[in-house]
Amino acid sequence: MREAGAEVVLPTRFGPLDAAEMLKILPGVDAVLASLDQYPAAVVASPEAGQLKIISRWGVGYDAIDLEAATQNGIVITYTPGLLDEAVADYTVALLLSLARRIPESHAAMAAGGWKRNWGHDIFGQTLGIFGLGRIGLAVARRAAGFNMRVLACSRSPKPEAVKLGVRFVPLDELLAESDFVTLHASLNPGNRGAIGEPQLRRMKPAAFLVNTARGQLVDEAALARALREGWIAGAALDVFGEEPLPAAHPLRSAPNLVLSPHQASFAQETGERVSQAAAEAIIDLMSGRRPRQVLNPDVFQSPALRARVEER
Ligand code: GLV
Repeated sequence: MREAGAEVVLPTRFGPLDAAEMLKILPGVDAVLASLDQYPAAVVASPEAGQLKIISRWGVGYDAIDLEAATQNGIVITYTPGLLDEAVADYTVALLLSLARRIPESHAAMAAGGWKRNWGHDIFGQTLGIFGLGRIGLAVARRAAGFNMRVLACSRSPKPEAVKLGVRFVPLDELLAESDFVTLHASLNPGNRGAIGEPQLRRMKPAAFLVNTARGQLVDEAALARALREGWIAGAALDVFGEEPLPAAHPLRSAPNLVLSPHQASFAQETGERVSQAAAEAIIDLMSGRRPRQVLNPDVFQSPALRARVEER
C-alpha cells in the first residue's frame, strides 16, 4: 500500500474493533483493509466515515458489514473469495482429527510430565455432516472423501460437484441425527443465527463431535457449554465465537471435551499473503479509478452517492 502511495494508519490494538472504536479511527480515512471489525449502518452512514470510499474485507465473511447502508452511502465493499477455502478446510480437518484422536489432551499431559495413552475414535468410515456447502464446505467434503468418510450436507444450493463426490444432501435434522462429526461452514445470515441450539444439539448422537470454523453466532454457545458438561455430545472444536476475543470467564473456556483456537483457520502464511495481496489490490484499483474485482455491492456503481471516481467498463 505504501508503494502505491498510500499513507497507512494502523489501529492501536488488534480487533475486532466495535462501532465506537471504528468511529474514532475513521475520520480522514479513504479506504480500510478490514478484518472482522464492526461496520453497522451507524458506522458507514456516520460523518466520521464521510471520506470512506471502500471497505476491502480481508477474508470472506461480511456479516459485520451493513451492505445496504454502505451502498446507500456510496461505499464500495470488496472481499477475497476463493483464496482461503483450502486453508480453512485444512484447519477444519486438523481440528476434527485433534478432537477425535485427543491430541491436544495428550500433548498437555506429556508437557506436564505424564505418559498416558488416550483412546480416540475412528475417522475413516465415519459419517461427516457439513452444514453449509459453499466453497469451504466443498473443500472439506473433498478431504473427507480422501478419508473414506460418508458425507452428508445441508445447504441452500446443492452443488453438482458435491454430488459427484458422493455427498448426499439431507435436511438438517437428518444430518444431525446421522453424523458422527458435524462441521459448520455456512456464512452467517439472519436466518441461521443460533441454528445449532439446544434442540439441534440434543438431536446429535451422544458420541458425535461438533466442529465450527465458520461463525460463533451459528451456535447457541450457552446450550453448547451445557451439552459438553452434560454429555449430550462427545466433544467440540471451535475456532470462532459469538464474542471475539472470547471473554476470559466465558463458560466455554472451562467446558470439557473441547478444543479451542482463536479464529485462525485462515492463518496460513502462504494463503495470508495471497489474501493480503488481493485485499490491497482492491483498494489500489478503486483509488486508481478501476472497478475492483470482487465487489459485494455492485449496485453502488449506479448510485449517485458513489464516493470514488470509477471509469465505466
Ligand atoms: C474469516 O472468518 C472470514 O470470514 O474470512
